[in-house]
Amino acid sequence: MTYSVLAVGSPTQNLSILDPASPSAEAIRGLFLLVGAILTGIFLLVEGVLIVSLIQSRRRKQAVEIEPPQVYGSKPIEIAWTAAPTMVVFVLILLVARTIWEVRVDPYNPPPGSEPLYITVIGHQWWWEYRYTSYKGKELSVITANELHMPVSDATTPRPVYLDLQSADVCHSFWIPRLGGKTDLIPARANTMWLQTNEVGVHLGQCAEYCGTQHANMLLRVYAEPPADFEKWLAAEAKPAVEDVAVKVDRAVFFSESCVSCHTIRGTTAKGIFGPDLTHLMSRETLASGMIKNTPENLERWINDPQTVKPGCLMPAFKLDEKPLKSVVRYLGTLK
Ligand code: CUA
Repeated sequence: MTYSVLAVGSPTQNLSILDPASPSAEAIRGLFLLVGAILTGIFLLVEGVLIVSLIQSRRRKQAVEIEPPQVYGSKPIEIAWTAAPTMVVFVLILLVARTIWEVRVDPYNPPPGSEPLYITVIGHQWWWEYRYTSYKGKELSVITANELHMPVSDATTPRPVYLDLQSADVCHSFWIPRLGGKTDLIPARANTMWLQTNEVGVHLGQCAEYCGTQHANMLLRVYAEPPADFEKWLAAEAKPAVEDVAVKVDRAVFFSESCVSCHTIRGTTAKGIFGPDLTHLMSRETLASGMIKNTPENLERWINDPQTVKPGCLMPAFKLDEKPLKSVVRYLGTLK
């Protein structure tokens, strides 16, 4: 069985920094292309002069070897080859500074007429926690994991998403190539960045700072949705977990197992905070931080032995017997 992220979600998703879908990613692409062009120009100039002089001096057939003029200590030449690179570096610094200015945005001053969304992102080994703290000035207490939902902007209303980036353990890095540059999540420190896009769809990304065994499977999925869809999703996520009487027995089994010491299900006694919030687990398309599709079969395999799916992950295999395992899967399956 292979786990391909492309197996999940829309087929149009791509990870190219050359195809930006946000103002900050656009600024970064502009800088990349401009600096690339300047450096290519310098490369061609230097190599051109080198090749021309090689060819010329090979053509000149000289009977006796003549030592070329020695220019050691020539002031004009020393000044020229110090000043020229300094100027090039200075121009590059200015370009980079301008882009940093464009990309960095003060989260406490959203543009007038905008509908800002604030999310605290917490990096964990090896998954993402999202705490929605406010939208359009209204306080929120929605917690979810691995799949970030945000509203798209349109011509009249910008909907910037301000991220407060923190870490629960080691350094991670938040990177959605089409929505912006990488920003690190560092223990005991909060970094900020922002996302904004007009493009509806799933934007993929990935942790971009080595953070241990499953770093490569710390995948990011951003669902950019029309505001009405986003608000519907948000309202559903804000509710406590559904209590389905049809799974009363299965529910009791779940709460007798150790799952509750690591996971929260809002509205119940499950209040663990080490693992992802499961209140609306079934609203997510994937499990294991974007690795596998959220299907009953995968969920069962995952709970039975997470180590076979994501070796080294911090969820141990509880090796439940067949019956309680099925009960746990059935109960979780009701958490829409
Ligand atoms: Cu988290 Cu790499």
